Amino acid sequence: MKKKVLVVHRADKLYYEFKNFCEQSENPVFRELEISYAKDTNAVRYGNFEKYVQKMEKEGPEWITPDPEILEKIADADVVLTEWGGFSSEVIAAGKQLKLIVTIRSSCENINVSYAQSQGVKVVYCPSRLAEVVGDMTIALMLSECRGIVRRNLVNTRGIWVEEKYNDESHAALCNLKIGLLGYGGVAKAVAKRLIHGFGCDMVYAYDQFLTPEDLARDGVTAASLEEICRICDIISLHLRYVPETENIIGREQFAMMKKNAIVINTARAGLLDEEALAEALQNGQIRGAGLDVYKVEPLPLDSPLLHMDNVTLMPHSAGITNDLIKNSVKLAVKIMEPLLKEIN
Ligand SMILES: NC(=O)c1ccc[n+]([C@@H]2O[C@H](COP(=O)([O-])OP(=O)(O)OC[C@H]3O[C@@H](n4cnc5c(N)ncnc54)[C@H](O)[C@@H]3O)[C@@H](O)[C@H]2O)c1
Repeated sequence: MKKKVLVVHRADKLYYEFKNFCEQSENPVFRELEISYAKDTNAVRYGNFEKYVQKMEKEGPEWITPDPEILEKIADADVVLTEWGGFSSEVIAAGKQLKLIVTIRSSCENINVSYAQSQGVKVVYCPSRLAEVVGDMTIALMLSECRGIVRRNLVNTRGIWVEEKYNDESHAALCNLKIGLLGYGGVAKAVAKRLIHGFGCDMVYAYDQFLTPEDLARDGVTAASLEEICRICDIISLHLRYVPETENIIGREQFAMMKKNAIVINTARAGLLDEEALAEALQNGQIRGAGLDVYKVEPLPLDSPLLHMDNVTLMPHSAGITNDLIKNSVKLAVKIMEPLLKEIN
C-alpha cells in the first residue's frame, strides 16, 4: 500500500514543490507516495502571520482551533509535512495512522512534541534551514551600520553630496572591529564563517551557555561572557533562541555597559531585546547604531520611535526570506525524511 503524506501549509507552494520532487525522483521511497494537501488556515484566521508566529513560539500549539479539513485529511495520513501548521494534541490524536511529522522549520514549537512521542509519532525538523540566508542579512546590517550605507543613500537620493570626514565613526572597517555573537548555533556559525573567512575579521567572540571554549575555538571564535561582549565589542549581534531565560537578555543594564560606538544587530527574535531601552540608548547616544529585522510588534507601528531615527537600519522581518526558500526547504526535508520513510510499514 502506498504511504500517504499530507502537506499542511498556508499556501500550496510547499505541496507542489514536494509533489514535483517526488514525481521526478528516481528513488521509489518518494515516487510511490500518495500526496495530498490541506490548507493551514490558522495563521490566516489569526489575522497577522507575525503575531501568529510570536504566539506559537511562546505558547506552543494547544490554543489553536483545529481546522476541520486538516482533522479529516490527517485521519489516514502516515506522514505530515508542514512548516507553521499547529499540531496540538487534538490534531495529532486525529491522525490514527500517523507515524511521522516533518516540519521544514529549524525548530518545532508549533508541534506538541511530547504528546506526539507519547503516541509513537516521530517529530523531525530541519536544523539551520535559514542559517546561511539569515547570516547574509546579518552581515548586510552590520555593513550598513558600520559604513552608514542607508543614511548616506537617503542623503544622496535627496541630491545632497556630503563631504566625508576620515575620522567619522560611521566609516568603521569591519575587519578591525570586535564582534560579539550572542548564541552560537546555526545562524551565528554562518555569520562567524563570513566574518572570519570572507572579511578577515580576527576578533570574533561568542557567548553560548551550551558550548565549550574549545567548540568555539575550532571555528576561530573566542569564548566570552555576556558581560564581556557588552563591554568590549563594537558590534553585538543576537543569535539566541527566544525562551523565557533569554527574554530581554539585552536591556538597560547591558546598554549601560556598551561602548559609545557600539552597534547592536538583531536578526533573531524581538523578545531577546528590550526595544524601549534600545530606542533610548540610540536616542541618547549611549550606543551608535542598530540593525534590526525583528520587532516586538510587527508590522512596526507607525508611532515607533525607531522609525524616526537616522542611526538604525530596519528590515521588515525578511532575513529568512529568499525566492527559493520553499524549494530549498524541500531539499533539506527529503534528506531527513528518506531513512524515516523507509522505516514506515
Ligand atoms: N529573522 C528571521 O527571519 C529568522 C530566520 C531564522 C531564524 N531566526 C532566529 O535566529 C535565531 C538563531 O537561530 P539558529 O537557527 O541559529 O538557532 P540555534 O538553535 O541553532 O542556535 C541558538 C543557540 O543559542 C544557544 N543558547 C540557547 N539558550 C541560551 C542561553 N540561555 N544562553 C546562551 N546561549 C543559549 C544554543 O546553545 C544555540 O547554540 C533564533 O532566534 C531564530 O528564531 C530568525
